[in-house]
Amino acid sequence: MTSPGRLPYPITLTGDGVTLREWRDEDLDELVAMLDEPDIARWTPMPSPFDAGAGIAYLKRARQGRVGGQRIQLAITVDGGRPLGEVLLFGVDAGQREAELGYLVGAQHRGHGLASRALALLSGYARTTLGLSRLILRIDAGNTASTSVARRCGYRLTGEPPILQEGPYGPSALDTWELVAAGGGSRMERLRNVAARRYGRRV
Ligand SMILES: CC(C)(COP(=O)(O)OP(=O)(O)OC[C@H]1O[C@@H](n2cnc3c(N)ncnc32)[C@H](O)[C@@H]1OP(=O)(O)O)[C@@H](O)C(=O)NCCC(=O)NCCS
Repeated sequence: MTSPGRLPYPITLTGDGVTLREWRDEDLDELVAMLDEPDIARWTPMPSPFDAGAGIAYLKRARQGRVGGQRIQLAITVDGGRPLGEVLLFGVDAGQREAELGYLVGAQHRGHGLASRALALLSGYARTTLGLSRLILRIDAGNTASTSVARRCGYRLTGEPPILQEGPYGPSALDTWELVAAGGGSRMERLRNVAARRYGRRV
């Protein structure tokens, strides 16, 4: 188990037909083509339009976050080559042993299970290698593709109140999803944990 205080860099994760690898400078054109897209603009905080300047800044920030060990930000590939999407882990709270994850897939590559496989692989790594016990996603209830990915990977809605945000598409409400522990945990345990988080006591 690694201390989650500083995240490992560089890493490559392989399993279930996907390879998650570090971003490279030569990915710029593919990155821009992937992120300059309406669903990415609608459901993620990416700038829109997403041009080459935005891409250069994005790769630079990604590298800084990786070298500094604050986040994991990996290109989703099939064989370590062409980037088809991205999966992230960020906002690590080492004390609570928790972190948030996120994902996106290029429009031409959706519907083939890439997001689900990438999220499952990174979630497994976060649990077993990083020792993070609470993994969460924040998803707008209207983003059915993303909620399907979450559900398929074993995440479940928590009872936490939605996080309200104002964006270019109007107000959005982000629900919190949590990876259910292996074995599931009873409904009562999950409710107790929601209560504990709200009122500051762990069970
Ligand atoms: C959400 C996203 C990453 C899904 O990527 P993907 O690789 O197509 O997802 P998968 O192929 O793994 O699909 C997983 C599940 O979602 C379902 N799904 C995928 N796209 C869907 C859509 N547009 N509407 C409804 N369900 C959808 C699949 O049918 C599958 O469900 P199943 O397990 O019941 O078969 C992709 O649509 C995307 O990049 N969207 C824009 C960015 C975004 O919303 N990111 C998440 C922010 S919280």
